[in-house]
Amino acid sequence: MSSMRTTVVFVLVLMMVLPYLGTAKGRGRGSKWWGIARAGEPNNLVSNSIKENSITNSYLDPDVHATLRRKQRRLVRDHPGVVVAVAKGAKQAISECKHQFKNRRWNCPTKDFHRGRNLFGKIVDRACRETAFIYALMSAAVTHSVSRACSEGAIESCTCDYSQRGPSGADWEWGGCSDNIQFGVKFSREFVDAGEKGRDIRYMMNLHNNEAGRVHVSTEMRQECKCHGMSGSCTVRTCWMRLPFFRVVGDNLKDRFDGASRVLISNTGRTPGNGRKKYNYQLKPYNPEHKAPSKKDLVYYENSPNFCEKNLKLGIAGTQGRVCNETSIGVDGCDLMCCGRGYKTEVKEVVERCACTFHWCCEVKCKVCRTKKTIHTCL
Ligand SMILES: *[C@@H]1O[C@H](CO)[C@@H](O)[C@H](O)[C@H]1NC(C)=O
Repeated sequence: MSSMRTTVVFVLVLMMVLPYLGTAKGRGRGSKWWGIARAGEPNNLVSNSIKENSITNSYLDPDVHATLRRKQRRLVRDHPGVVVAVAKGAKQAISECKHQFKNRRWNCPTKDFHRGRNLFGKIVDRACRETAFIYALMSAAVTHSVSRACSEGAIESCTCDYSQRGPSGADWEWGGCSDNIQFGVKFSREFVDAGEKGRDIRYMMNLHNNEAGRVHVSTEMRQECKCHGMSGSCTVRTCWMRLPFFRVVGDNLKDRFDGASRVLISNTGRTPGNGRKKYNYQLKPYNPEHKAPSKKDLVYYENSPNFCEKNLKLGIAGTQGRVCNETSIGVDGCDLMCCGRGYKTEVKEVVERCACTFHWCCEVKCKVCRTKKTIHTCL
């Protein structure tokens, strides 16, 4: 009798827990591939993927393999060399994220790679601005890195884009090697979006932000030209399209982070995804007086935690021990950074390279200086 009760209780608990496990599992899954940034060295990946031309999964570093979904593995197989570009892009995105957020309470902390366990931690299980930024940045980075790798000849299945044609001028023509943004965008849609399944708002949020990342790369493409002709005469110029510096993409996405749109799902957004329609869903602004998010906007639907106190359950480190700026009234200032807890001030001796001089050719020699610096850290 009592064992039956135990079973009933067990089943009830399971019924309560299972749906939760289902959603929790589904949430961070699309982002598992981010772990590729921490797996192996790019050089190893190059030699591996060129050495083994057979259609197997085995040429992949087991750590990389573990982070990819079936469709992503297929893409990596079909485009030899692309895995290196993806890994490079992911690494670049991580350092860009840390740069953009170095003065904020949430400073883009990352964890060491453990077989696809989430690189950015539990913030990804939420649906706040930070999550939106991470998705957009990672997607932008893959687009950027793959587009460049094509024009560098590092991917077997793509080359420079020679199709870029605008109206040519009197003294110039197209014809240079353009970064292959078409390939980069297409590949990112397939590879980065591969993990996003379902019809819920979470899925739409991720897809929107992934696409926003790509749009921020493609709209910053710039024309570059080179002169030909007798020394410096420039009788003819050849022009091509060049990717923006990734820093520009990071800066622009950071601006969108600050002005991100809180959204709800609208009923018309429930059209099933069939190819092109996938990017045509509708996200309504949470505040009906705001306008609908544009393609370049980042979207979220949960408010961010304040990141003040350490909370292991939410994966938040808190700001205790963070360096703050005593004179700034911004988010890096001690008031905001330390969340009103106060801060301590210490004078520390800092060892730096200084008085650097350039020696012909090509060496930079520096002295080692010890300077005293006043450092404020949050209590
Ligand atoms: C601290 O903030 C002030 C005002 O914003 C700024 O001028 C200064 O450069 C900052 N100091 C550091 C070390 O970042």
